[in-house]
Amino acid sequence: MFSLQGKTAVITGGGSGIGRAISRLFARQGATVHIVELNPDAAAQVVGEIEQEGGKAQVHQANVAEQQQVLHVFEQIGKLDILVNNAGIAHVGNVENTSEADFERVYSVNVKGAYNCLYAAVPHLKAQGGGTIVNLASIAAHVGITDRFAYSMSKGAIFAMTLSIARDYLGDKIRCNSISPARVHTPFVDGFIAKNYAGREEEIFDKLSKSQPIGRMGTPEEVANLALFLCSDEAGFITGCDYPVDGGFIKLNN
Ligand SMILES: NC(=O)c1ccc[n+]([C@@H]2O[C@H](COP(=O)([O-])OP(=O)(O)OC[C@H]3O[C@@H](n4cnc5c(N)ncnc54)[C@H](O)[C@@H]3O)[C@@H](O)[C@H]2O)c1
Repeated sequence: MFSLQGKTAVITGGGSGIGRAISRLFARQGATVHIVELNPDAAAQVVGEIEQEGGKAQVHQANVAEQQQVLHVFEQIGKLDILVNNAGIAHVGNVENTSEADFERVYSVNVKGAYNCLYAAVPHLKAQGGGTIVNLASIAAHVGITDRFAYSMSKGAIFAMTLSIARDYLGDKIRCNSISPARVHTPFVDGFIAKNYAGREEEIFDKLSKSQPIGRMGTPEEVANLALFLCSDEAGFITGCDYPVDGGFIKLNN
């Protein structure tokens, strides 16, 4: 079950955290993986890990926020069966302390970046006779999270784009779903704790762990397992859905 043998998968932000776990798992399941990354050194390291396990992977350096770069990369890749829109950045703040520059930065990577990859990938998926797309949303798309104004905006847009793509390409056999993790322990989390809570790292890590009713953060591998299922033929009846991977965050936090 869950074989991706013979499939080509494009994973954005595959050089770290959740994207790295998805890249490694998809390669292990037989896919040829193309990592689209801002940070080519991190991506090259993941490609090395995949090759060591006997898998196939390639690095493509690009900023997903730049449409010309994205179009060029997808032109180089050509045939494609799976797109995982995973690249994303964090931001902490409410509406009053979110500057226009911050808002635009989060928008350009998390929203426009996903749009650019959808724009580039869909014609290839159609030509291929179908395919699957998974977008990384967040619990912030579904519940109000303190001080995540711009980030929540961006993940709400991911959820809405997921529905739109799923509807528009039903006839082209393109399935599109999203995943909404709660806190997952990745460099993304360590980075924003260090940046926003310097000196209180341990206290905040513990607080963030306990905000999941299950009592801990998720692992990148737990998110990758769901991404694999959604991209596999076994999930052939599933489109236009969002799946929380959240340790009970959305439904059990009372
Ligand atoms: N970690 C969490 O708790 C969590 C929770 C919910 C949702 N998410 C979402 O999951 C996704 C992955 O998160 P993560 O924690 O693995 O992050 P991460 O920071 O560990 O990795 C993100 C990767 O994306 C790359 N990237 C960033 N901007 C890019 C750009 N403009 N173009 C190309 N690549 C770019 C980075 O270089 C990095 O390798 C994000 O969309 C994030 O919003 C994460």
